[in-house]
Amino acid sequence: MSKFYITTPIYYVNDKPHIGHTYTTVAADAMARYHRMIGDTTFFATGTDEHGAKIAKKAKTEGKEPAKYADEIAAQFQMAWDEMNISNDGFLRTTDKAHKKAVQNALQYMYDKGDIVKDKYEGLYCVGCEQFKNEKDLIDGKCPDHQTVPEKMSEETYVFKMSKYADKLLKMIESDELKIRPQARKNEIVSFYKEGLKDVSFSRKNVKWGIQLPWDKSHTAYVWSDAFLNYLTILGWDGSGGILPPPYEGGGARRAEGVEMFPPDIQLMSKDILRVHATIWPAMLLSLDLPVQKNMFVHGFFLIDGQKMSKSIGNVISPADLVKRYGVDATRYLLMSPTTFGRDGDVGYEKFDEKFNADLANGLGNLVARSITLVEKMQNVNIRMKNDNSKTDAWGKEEFYHKVDVSWSGYKDFIEVLEIDKALQQALVQIKFLDNYITSAKPWELIKDNDERVGVVMYNVLERIRHTALMLWPFMPETTEEIMRRLGLDPNTEKTKDFEELIEWGGLKPGTEVKKGESLFPRLEN
Ligand code: MSP
Repeated sequence: MSKFYITTPIYYVNDKPHIGHTYTTVAADAMARYHRMIGDTTFFATGTDEHGAKIAKKAKTEGKEPAKYADEIAAQFQMAWDEMNISNDGFLRTTDKAHKKAVQNALQYMYDKGDIVKDKYEGLYCVGCEQFKNEKDLIDGKCPDHQTVPEKMSEETYVFKMSKYADKLLKMIESDELKIRPQARKNEIVSFYKEGLKDVSFSRKNVKWGIQLPWDKSHTAYVWSDAFLNYLTILGWDGSGGILPPPYEGGGARRAEGVEMFPPDIQLMSKDILRVHATIWPAMLLSLDLPVQKNMFVHGFFLIDGQKMSKSIGNVISPADLVKRYGVDATRYLLMSPTTFGRDGDVGYEKFDEKFNADLANGLGNLVARSITLVEKMQNVNIRMKNDNSKTDAWGKEEFYHKVDVSWSGYKDFIEVLEIDKALQQALVQIKFLDNYITSAKPWELIKDNDERVGVVMYNVLERIRHTALMLWPFMPETTEEIMRRLGLDPNTEKTKDFEELIEWGGLKPGTEVKKGESLFPRLEN
């Protein structure tokens, strides 16, 4: 058993949750649920990023005080995650009092150490990104992500001397001590470091909506410095615990007290915010004498029918829209399965509908219904395992059992490296296999003839449905638990079992009473 700490970005409260945010959050949730299932001590963190110029500006256009506006949108995120059955262990809002205090403590530590110094800073600032931009990041003078011309800024500011950590970080990234995946994203970051890492402005004089610097109250903290520390404060870190007093030499990496889960084992995000996560964030950790994150996984962007989701195009889909049409578990499945995790992917209602009908209505739902109906018709034979332990099916074939082990090892290999869509594919393969098995074993004929072998056939089918449902457990928790109940199993008992025990052949009790129940995924017509 090991520890597993996973984070999502904390989302800006300038807008309500859409399926882009939902994508990251559901993926993190599935990973957290998988790690809990295999017995790891797991912490799953998410939250909202509420300070800075971007939020202040948005609140103003809404005619609201930033604090009140942030309260409203943060509540919408929390409700959306509740509705999506997200199992986060904490929800950090950067306006939280304890977080603000910890940020002040941490920045004071970096200032006392000489890593933050007063300077004059000039640059092009994109408020949408809340980041300074290099000329070469711009296309026709505009930020490609926001289609806006960045502001020229020149002001007195406190600067984080992160360049001093550049060599060390580059080595850590190259050697995968700080792992960035997919590989193409790592390569991008390595070249970015090789161009030379610049220091970064860490405070704003004219942005009032932020955390005041403890040593100079006329400045507020740069919103990213505030935001990154959420990954620590959500664990209860107070910015001082475990950190030794000056002169800071020779300490190396030390754990802060009370935050054994740190550092993150996986930080999930999309490419828009990788660069800051691969530079400023680990440099802050080195400055704080803390260990850096272990692994960052960068998934692709969701495009809607080929276009970037945006308010101006009017193609923004909210998680609630999908839940209304497909239900919670199907929405989770539809978000995770259609595109390669790590690459941009195109989605849209037409594709979602097709996938819903193919994989869930005609696939999983139909298989469960069809199998249980057959068992209900078996009045004279009980479902039973072949009792000679030969691991062959009713016709002496071994393949049936062997293939389950192979699928599990494929599933585990994929999910461990976040090839989420491929892990799900393993479950789909089971469904197709079982459909074909039923078609060729023709249990309805065996039933008619009162042939005893049907007991073994149907045991094999139901037991393999149990395995399929287990593979889907992190993705569709309610559906899996409903399938367990229909198979006569108690989900609460199943939860207490060791993973190795769960995935052994034979978890289903022979002679079990099954229940048909309503259609799991009624087919969408139209
Ligand atoms: N507040 C910062 C993050 C601070 S973390 C210390 C931020 N917030 S955000 O609201 O803009 O969220 C960006 C993240 O949302 C992306 O990195 C990605 O995880 C998710 N996505 C937003 N739109 C998305 C798509 N269209 N597709 C996939 N993921 C998307 O940046």
